[in-house]
Amino acid sequence: MPKPSKHVFVCTQSRPPGHPRGSCGQQGSTAVFQTFMQQFDQGQLYGQFALTGSGCLGTCDFGPTVLVYPEGVMYTKVKPEDVPVIIEQHLKGGEPVESLLAPAAVWS
Ligand code: FES
Repeated sequence: MPKPSKHVFVCTQSRPPGHPRGSCGQQGSTAVFQTFMQQFDQGQLYGQFALTGSGCLGTCDFGPTVLVYPEGVMYTKVKPEDVPVIIEQHLKGGEPVESLLAPAAVWS
């Protein structure tokens, strides 16, 4: 297996309705993950980049959350329509998408 240059983690955690933390699953992360899968398939990106559904990444209030390594760039409130720009600008172009970056409050 070739070593991917970037690894995308999409939080697909779900919690029961009414849970105080909510979850990315309740906020549409399955559609985000499936859009990444479709785009990776269509663009034959597997091998260059890796894609993994993950458990909770800690930013449940700002979901759906996407984390890209090796940079450790976190995106929040990601929608399926945001996936193409993350792929083109960040994965292929090396420039994180400023408008989707996690707010500073996440890290306080
Ligand atoms: S449930 Fe996705 S970050 Fe916590």
